Amino acid sequence: MAVTTQLLLLASLSVLSFAAQNNPTTRGVKWLEKGRSVLVRVSTPDLPLWNKEEQIGEDIPSALLLNFTVSADNRTLLLQDQPFMPLLQPHTPPRLSAPQTSQSLSEFEHGTPPNLEDLPVFDLDYDRIAHPRDDPSIHYYNYYPKLMINLLGAGIAGHNALLKDMEQKVIKITLRDWNTVGRASTDPPNHSFEIKEVKLWERQPGDSVDPDDLKECTLKSWRCSDFGDHPWYRYIFRQNFDEYGKIGSFRHKLHQRWATLYERLGFFRITLLILVVISMVLSPIPYALYKGGKWIKAQHRAGVEAGAAVWKDNDEESKEVVLEKHVDENDAGGSAEKPLPPVPVKSADVLEASEKV
Ligand SMILES: *[C@@H]1O[C@H](CO)[C@@H](O)[C@H](O)[C@H]1NC(C)=O
Ligand SMILES: *[C@@H]1O[C@H](CO)[C@@H](O)[C@H](O)[C@H]1NC(C)=O
Ligand SMILES: *[C@@H]1O[C@H](CO)[C@@H](O)[C@H](O)[C@H]1NC(C)=O
Repeated sequence: MAVTTQLLLLASLSVLSFAAQNNPTTRGVKWLEKGRSVLVRVSTPDLPLWNKEEQIGEDIPSALLLNFTVSADNRTLLLQDQPFMPLLQPHTPPRLSAPQTSQSLSEFEHGTPPNLEDLPVFDLDYDRIAHPRDDPSIHYYNYYPKLMINLLGAGIAGHNALLKDMEQKVIKITLRDWNTVGRASTDPPNHSFEIKEVKLWERQPGDSVDPDDLKECTLKSWRCSDFGDHPWYRYIFRQNFDEYGKIGSFRHKLHQRWATLYERLGFFRITLLILVVISMVLSPIPYALYKGGKWIKAQHRAGVEAGAAVWKDNDEESKEVVLEKHVDENDAGGSAEKPLPPVPVKSADVLEASEKV
């Protein structure tokens, strides 16, 4: 009993120290609509403030703004207007961009929301992971997925920076799927999401990832995935992905080849090509049938040849019979060889008609 209590104490102590160390905050989290839409400000000490007019970075503190909104049908969590959970195309993760603001934290919290249209927009590299894993084929009861987003890099007008500063925060967002309350999710899932909680967490060692830290992507790997399950990728660096998936992977190569082929040949010729390939794949079957038929024929012919003499005799006999028959007919009628032409029906009709007139 005492041991158990002690263990429990230890456990709660470690949880407490972990929480203290992480110190999550809701500062920088601004609800646009409770439970449905939230704007998150992430300070980026590595990123200079971009001056749009002069096209240069200025040494002024800045932050990036992320907009998490549940779609109108509640089925999807959007980030910057793009489906982010669940992912539509896990092999080609969304390309994200975010407006940059020079608003301080308190200005952001208490002031009017910045006019996003006027702000410079950075393209993003990010680390995205969900817990539990967001694989649509897994059925969850009381589904409260936690999504973690950690910005790894940003670029504008050809300038790129890695976001490695330990002061930068990690976003964790908890959703609730109301369609799984007391029951499992359906297949395909029919989520009804609500945003339960959004917090900014301290970065941990290892949270700032360099693209060079990732294992090399070669044709030996089908996907070059970050882990072995759907949704496959966790670290999304812009340079590693294009519309065909992860650059360098065998899957990417195949999709790219296919797309090039499609572009060159067009729909009609591609269809033709597919038909040819299919008929080539299937051709062993008709060929086997053909071969089989030939064999049967050959067997048959062999049998025929074996009894050739008999057949020959029979043939001659039958010929003789026929001949005899002909001879008989000739003898009997005399005119059997040249039968009288049949009476032309038409002329008879015509005659009849003319008689009637
Ligand atoms: C989406 O959720 C909100 C509550 O968060 C609810 O009022 C609304 O009816 C839901 N819409 C649909 C299409 O389920
Ligand atoms: C946030 O995103 C939603 C849809 O994705 C959009 O309707 C809304 O206007 C955006 N809000 C802001 C402040 O950008
Ligand atoms: C999905 O869930 C909504 C409620 O959130 C419900 O109205 C709708 O009928 C469901 N659709 C399917 C296909 O189950």
